[in-house]
Amino acid sequence: MSTILPHGGHLISRLVPEAEAGRIEQEAAGLPAIRINRRTLSDADLIAIGAFSPLQGFMNEEDYRHVVERMRLANGTVWSLPITLPVDAETASGLRNGEEAALIGEEDGVLYGTIEVQSIFEIDPYHEAEQVFRTTDAAHPGVQKLLERPTFCVGGSIRLLRRLKPERFGEYYFDPAETRQIFRERGWRTVVGFQTRNPVHRAHEYIQKSAMEIVDALFLNPLVGETKSDDVPADVRMRSYVSLLEHYYPRDRVFLGVFPAAMRYAGPREAIFHAIVRKNYGCTHFIVGRDHAGVGDYYGTYYAQHIFREFDPEELGIMPLFFEHSFYCTACGNMASSKTCPHPKERHVALSGTKVREMLRNGICPPPEFSRPEVARILIEGMSEPANQKA
Ligand code: ADX
Repeated sequence: MSTILPHGGHLISRLVPEAEAGRIEQEAAGLPAIRINRRTLSDADLIAIGAFSPLQGFMNEEDYRHVVERMRLANGTVWSLPITLPVDAETASGLRNGEEAALIGEEDGVLYGTIEVQSIFEIDPYHEAEQVFRTTDAAHPGVQKLLERPTFCVGGSIRLLRRLKPERFGEYYFDPAETRQIFRERGWRTVVGFQTRNPVHRAHEYIQKSAMEIVDALFLNPLVGETKSDDVPADVRMRSYVSLLEHYYPRDRVFLGVFPAAMRYAGPREAIFHAIVRKNYGCTHFIVGRDHAGVGDYYGTYYAQHIFREFDPEELGIMPLFFEHSFYCTACGNMASSKTCPHPKERHVALSGTKVREMLRNGICPPPEFSRPEVARILIEGMSEPANQKA
């Protein structure tokens, strides 16, 4: 049995085989250095393991411009978010097209890999922000990150010598080749991917389980890379996912593995990106609910669903499953959505993220109709840990 084809046709691997590592490391010692932060390193890692197939490296100018303007790479393949390597002007001036450079961790000074420089270019961050985030408001967390970065970029294919080591929950890190293999071994022909940067509350559980009714399995794939500071920290979330699965999900139809990417908060464009990446992990279906990857009021509730209409289903190659805003309805006595519930809002148990965080911080469990008690208890415990006081 074969799994779904990766985006672009085959799974990219830019990890240096052990046998070549010594030689590349020696060569890299004499190369100009590009200092990369954790966020860029996480992109490099995802490129190297094939999660960003067909990207073989950071985008060159041509791909970058096509993606920003048209949500496609220069060869026409659908791709909705720029994946760029920012450098300051001084670093840019020391690089030459056609030559290699070393990728060095900004924090630890470690050599992570090399890039074959293909393109050195300058971006207009405001134009990118307008196109990608649909706003240039610096209060938007994705725009803020973009405006903080230097404006020069280096494009070219990379080779990765070392990976970022997860501090915790290392057992939930799987490369796309591994998840594909696992799905195959379990005999799952259809797998629905679920992206989340939040604890799984009842609404998430409801849409996951609704999807599970029509596919073989669920790939719970929480994003654990950089998120904004008031999102619940990944390690607290991980504890809550493990407990939730143990108590409420069939063991043989769910797989938990993390998505070690940074959150962009780009709403609609990020929904396309999230779907494509989950295809690379071997998912055939992908859940898009209300305001997917959104933040504040920047995107309409269902824009992240509507954007899928701009593409031919075949060129996306993964089937999006759309869900309306879901909640517990006290009149229905069950979970429902605006599609299935006729009752007024007053009968719906709906809490804002801010309200839930406030309750948890004060040690109050949200009602069981909103969050499973096992999850709420872990979140309360997690929020009270000194490192997480601000969350
Ligand atoms: S996201 O930034 O990762 O999209 P979140 O973790 O809240 O945020 O959402 C995960 C997925 O669940 C997204 O597809 C989102 O649209 C969906 N979702 C979240 N809450 C609801 C809800 N109440 N009703 C329907 N879909 C929801």
